[in-house]
Amino acid sequence: MKASNSIKLEFPSKSSNESFARAAAAAFAAQLDPTMEELGDLRTAVSEAVTNAIVHAYPDSIGMICMKLRILESGVFEVTVRDWGRGIEDLEKAMTPLYSTGGEERSGMGFTIMDSFTDKLRVRSSPGKGTTVVMQKSFSPRAVRV
Ligand SMILES: Nc1ncnc2c1ncn2[C@@H]1O[C@H](COP(=O)(O)OP(=O)(O)O)[C@@H](O)[C@H]1O
Ligand SMILES: [Mg+2]
Repeated sequence: MKASNSIKLEFPSKSSNESFARAAAAAFAAQLDPTMEELGDLRTAVSEAVTNAIVHAYPDSIGMICMKLRILESGVFEVTVRDWGRGIEDLEKAMTPLYSTGGEERSGMGFTIMDSFTDKLRVRSSPGKGTTVVMQKSFSPRAVRV
């Protein structure tokens, strides 16, 4: 679907850029007038996708991450997080709740959180080439809010 507005950000996979990416997505989404709760869900989902690119895609180096934000003509908000890192061997397994290759400090819940905090999640990945995560979320129209 065509976008009525979009921006693209590219940044190195430094952990200090995770909060920037999350805030940028929320700031761009603000024009759709989301509720605080919807905005919180969006921030959490974006944070999981960007954190994965930072910690898993480029485990021992700094690589580039591209985040594309689009407002589709339908009003749906779309976030694409792309990296050119390690890629994922078995996507189905990687997306299983609690599965992690990241050791003790990782919960293995990133994809599950992205899935439950957005309306649509698509992931494409090629080992050695990189990973693309696309999330779509629609915000409730103000008029029908209680
Ligand atoms: N961008 C990525 N590049 C490479 N591997 C990834 C990427 N995102 C996720 N993965 C793989 O998928 C697994 C599951 O991710 P996730 O559900 O976020 O859990 P966690 O990050 O806690 O491990 C990760 O442990 C990692 O092996
Ligand atoms: Mg994760």
